[in-house]
Amino acid sequence: MNEKEISLRRTFAIISHPDAGKTTLTEKLLLFGGAIQVAGAVKSNKIKKHATSDFMEIERQRGISVATSVMSFEYNGTLINLLDTPGHKDFAEDTYRTLTAVDSVILVIDSVNGVEEQTRKLVEVCRMRDTPIIVFVNKLDRDGKFPFDLLDEIEKELKLSLHPLSWPINMGKEFKGVYNLYDSSLNLFTANQKSTEENTIPIPDINDPLLDERVGERDAGQLREDVELLQGVYGDLDVQRYLDGKVAPVFFGSAVNNFGVKELLDTFIRVAPVPQGRYTDKRHVEPNEPKFTGFIFKIHANLDPRHRDRIAFLRVCSGRFARNTYYKHTRVGKDVRFSNPYSFLAREKDVIEEAFPGDVVGLFDTGNFKIGDTLTEGEIMQFTGIPTFSPEIFKELVNKDPMKTKQLEKGIQQLTDEGVAQLFTQHGGNRKIIGCVGELQFEVIQYRLLQEYGASCAFMPLSFYKACWITGDKKAIEDFARFKQANIMQDKDGNLVYLAQSEWFLNTERQNNPAIEFHFTSEFK
Ligand code: G4P
Repeated sequence: MNEKEISLRRTFAIISHPDAGKTTLTEKLLLFGGAIQVAGAVKSNKIKKHATSDFMEIERQRGISVATSVMSFEYNGTLINLLDTPGHKDFAEDTYRTLTAVDSVILVIDSVNGVEEQTRKLVEVCRMRDTPIIVFVNKLDRDGKFPFDLLDEIEKELKLSLHPLSWPINMGKEFKGVYNLYDSSLNLFTANQKSTEENTIPIPDINDPLLDERVGERDAGQLREDVELLQGVYGDLDVQRYLDGKVAPVFFGSAVNNFGVKELLDTFIRVAPVPQGRYTDKRHVEPNEPKFTGFIFKIHANLDPRHRDRIAFLRVCSGRFARNTYYKHTRVGKDVRFSNPYSFLAREKDVIEEAFPGDVVGLFDTGNFKIGDTLTEGEIMQFTGIPTFSPEIFKELVNKDPMKTKQLEKGIQQLTDEGVAQLFTQHGGNRKIIGCVGELQFEVIQYRLLQEYGASCAFMPLSFYKACWITGDKKAIEDFARFKQANIMQDKDGNLVYLAQSEWFLNTERQNNPAIEFHFTSEFK
């Protein structure tokens, strides 16, 4: 039973540098899946409601996709769970966490801009767990970089081995379409924003004069040369190497024109990995194990501002999740059950009776969950691989309204449980330092503390370079913590963290304390 359910599912995310076309591609995929009916729905609804939405007022104000949401839809009998990620770099941690819950990604690259800053970081995170990647080179309707140069740039800059499965015929105004290398067909370009039809002509023999007829002699000649070269260099795609995260298939197209998207999707459901197992601190969990396990990778606050409810996003890892059934919340050792778990199918959030590996379930939470929490049928273990990275910016939290101290404490605790930012509390003291990736996060925190908890705060900038989780000899750590009292903090789980003022200080401490290890992430082997 489970095997069948598992084989039907694909859980993935689309990642890109902002503006490369992630939202546009998402929308086109949803159109194919029948999850939305008209083009433009995603953009215009980005903030208001429904699948792609983001409920926070702050997003409306800023037009930035702050939160991660989930869109589930069916396409040709495959159940696709698409996890959306915020494009803005200040929310990169949110994206990294979401990537722990997917089995593969589609990476969108703008053919004009090539590899950009966020692209590099995202691919690095994918590489940490060998997540399979399919590349979609977008905006072929514009004059971009030459395809061979682009491939070269992507391979070099991202240290990815590529395998083109389609090849463009010109670009910009001259863009005529793509030739599919895997099924030897010509896909003619028509600027087309609405329909999902494509103009595909099978040309099994690239020397067929039909090609000259359709794209002209000059372009047909060039294409033949290119294809010969490509076939010589790449040969056939080794799907296993893709699944192992060693080679990335590449497609070319234009998302806004809905061109090249269908073949991307068709290939995706054919080759993309089914839900995969995950590591825990005790053992590796396989998806086809009979007992249910899952972990929380995202917590979203206040769907309804009148209530302080949160939604915890659970990725099912094994077995079958059922409504109204008691599961073990392994961190706190309590049994919990959920009467209204919901899925993110199509346009509505539906209460569900059951869910299977690869699915993402929304659980109402009144403050019991933290990112990384694990649910099981009783086995005590914790899913790993959801590391916290050292923040880039540190500021001290200052309470501006002593009458609201309690609200502030609660608010900051809950917001950091959600993963909005990292909270470091002075070891043996009460100073609170907030660590974020970008300035915008501080504004979000300040805004939310006021709106949701009625607490007003300010942030005092601190000039720390990195947060380092410290491990090693107990006595050495005790001594170090005593000498460096002002720089020693505890993270949300009580782990000791050293805040280094500069790289020089960190290197000096490393040299002076050989019995202590300094880590830039909260997870280490
Ligand atoms: P993001 O989510 O990765 O940030 O990118 P998004 O889809 O919002 O796309 C960024 C811009 O690129 C949008 O234009 C979008 O229309 C455009 N775009 C997406 N795909 C293509 C394509 O294939 N060709 C061309 N030429 N443009 C494309 P915008 O002006 O920022 O927004 P809009 O007013 O057009 O919606």
